Amino acid sequence: MEGQNRFSGRVSIVTGAGSGIGAETARLFASEGAAVTLVDIDRSAVETVVAEITAAGGQAVAVICDVRDPDQVDRAVAGAVERFGGVHILVNNAGVMQEATIEQISLDDFTRVMSINLTSAFLFSKAVEGHMRAQRYGKIVMTSSRGMLGAPGYSSYASSKAGMVGLAGALAWELGPYGINVNSVAPGHVTTPLTEELAVKRGGSYEDIRATAASRIALPDIASPRDIAEVIAFLASDAARFVTGQAILTTGRPMQ
Ligand SMILES: NC(=O)c1ccc[n+]([C@@H]2O[C@H](COP(=O)([O-])OP(=O)(O)OC[C@H]3O[C@@H](n4cnc5c(N)ncnc54)[C@H](O)[C@@H]3O)[C@@H](O)[C@H]2O)c1
Repeated sequence: MEGQNRFSGRVSIVTGAGSGIGAETARLFASEGAAVTLVDIDRSAVETVVAEITAAGGQAVAVICDVRDPDQVDRAVAGAVERFGGVHILVNNAGVMQEATIEQISLDDFTRVMSINLTSAFLFSKAVEGHMRAQRYGKIVMTSSRGMLGAPGYSSYASSKAGMVGLAGALAWELGPYGINVNSVAPGHVTTPLTEELAVKRGGSYEDIRATAASRIALPDIASPRDIAEVIAFLASDAARFVTGQAILTTGRPMQ
C-alpha cells in the first residue's frame, strides 16, 4: 500500500473504472484507504480491476452500469451508500470519443457521446448531491479533456467535455456552501486504450500517435493514467479544500 493515507474512511465512486484513467484512480484511492465503487459497462474489465484491488488489501466493489441510464445510476449510488454508509467522492470519468466532422456525424452519434460523457456526469452528480449536502462534505471531479477547446472532427467530444467544465462551474457555486468542491481535470493525450483506439481509427499505430503528441508538448512523453489519477486524487483530497470550480489542464504544456 502507498505511503500516504489521504482517503482513510472515505467512500468513493469512480465511473469508467474498468480501464485507463478510471481504473488507475480507483487503484490509487483504494491504496490510500478509500472504499471504492467501480462503475463500468464492461463487466470483465471492471471485475478484473476489483479483483486486483481486493488482492492488494483494498476495499472495492464492481457495479455494472450503463452511465446513460438514470435508474442504473441511482441504483449504483444507492448501493454504494448502503454498503459503505455514505459517499464522499465522485469521479465522473466514463467517456468515449468519436472523431467525425459535422457533415459526417449523425444526431444519434452526437447524442451518444453527449450522454455517455456529459449527461452521465449530471446524473451521478444529481444522485450524490443530497448525501454530500447532508454530511456537509463532498468532492466531485470530472474527467474533462483538453479536447474541450475544440478541434476538427471533435464536435461531439468537445461539446461534451466543455459541458463537463460548465457543469462543474455551476455545481461549484450551488454546492460550495455545503463544503462540496467540484473541479475538472483536462488531460491531453494519455496512454490508455482510448488513445490506442483513436490511433487505429486514424489508420496509424499507437507509437506514431504517441510520438507525434509527445513532440508537441514541453514534457518528454505523453501522460500515463497514473499522472492523471494523481491530479484527480489531489482534487479529491482535503489538500484541495480551497480549490473549486477549476479545470486543471494536465497536458504537458503543448504549443498553442
Ligand atoms: N486517453 C486520453 O488521451 C484522454 C485524454 C483526455 C480525456 N480523457 C478522458 O478520460 C476519461 C477516461 O478515458 P480513458 O482514456 O481512461 O478511456 P478508456 O477507454 O480506457 O476507459 C473508459 C471506460 O469507460 C467505460 N464506459 C464507456 N461507456 C460507458 C457507459 N455507457 N457506461 C459505463 N461505462 C462506460 C468503458 O467501458 C471503459 O472502461 C474519458 O472521459 C476520456 O474522455 C482521456
